[in-house]
Amino acid sequence: MNPLTPGRTSHPIRGTVAYARIAVTSTDQTLTARPVHAAPIRTFHPRRGRMSDRQRDALQRLWPAYGLDIGAPDGPFDATAPFGRRAPLVLEIGSGMGDATAAMAAADPDRHYLAVEVHTPGIANLLELVERHGLSNVRVARGDALDLVRAMPEGSLEAVHVFFPDPWPKARHHKRRLIQPTHVALLRSRLVPGGTLHCATDWAEYAESMRETLAADPGLVDAHDGFAPRPGHRPVTRFERRALTAGRSIFDLVHHRR
Ligand SMILES: C[S@@+](CC[C@H](N)C(=O)[O-])C[C@H]1O[C@@H](n2cnc3c(N)ncnc32)[C@H](O)[C@@H]1O
Repeated sequence: MNPLTPGRTSHPIRGTVAYARIAVTSTDQTLTARPVHAAPIRTFHPRRGRMSDRQRDALQRLWPAYGLDIGAPDGPFDATAPFGRRAPLVLEIGSGMGDATAAMAAADPDRHYLAVEVHTPGIANLLELVERHGLSNVRVARGDALDLVRAMPEGSLEAVHVFFPDPWPKARHHKRRLIQPTHVALLRSRLVPGGTLHCATDWAEYAESMRETLAADPGLVDAHDGFAPRPGHRPVTRFERRALTAGRSIFDLVHHRR
């Protein structure tokens, strides 16, 4: 198997068939409101990114053990299958270079961490961290996290982390934002009751929009009545460090499913 070729794993969620016909629930308004043939609105920038030799090597060696491709699932996603045992599952959407995933998973060995990214060098970097720190509770999925979440059964996630999602600052791009009402309803539906949706951003206007969107979701309870104090368990990522250096403030929002 060539790990650089998307959609070539033995994992049950692989495939390329039109997706909108399965795993659609009442919370998947994006899908139900749009014609099946319309191209999905993606929340990520298409970017290639160069890989170092080390990252390329990590991807080649480690992808078969730790990676899964998000194609079109041919059934509901079984979160236990990639890990081989059952444990509470934390989903990190847009894991970037994977530093937060690796650090949080290392500090929290009794929960499984599933990182989802589209950026291959970031995926390779996380695989390298997984190996370096001997993390058995991390798996890395490549593809659109929203596709993966739609395939998950309701109530299957202990927590969802959305750390520094692309802010899409232009008004005409706001439809690409990860944190918007239909996506929030989808994410919330996949949480267990009491499960956590933790978002963080350095983009003040997006932070305010996130706060309003999350507060408006009837199935969520705000853990802090607005922006949360920076949780000590959220590691500082390279992305966050750059934002701090540039003088931007960081906003955390923590909600629980009712
Ligand atoms: C601004 S970066 C932040 C990365 C990381 N969370 C951090 O704090 O350093 C946002 C990341 O989210 C990823 N992303 C955006 N939408 C995504 C989606 N629907 N599925 C998977 N990854 C996504 C992008 O590829 C990008 O790497």
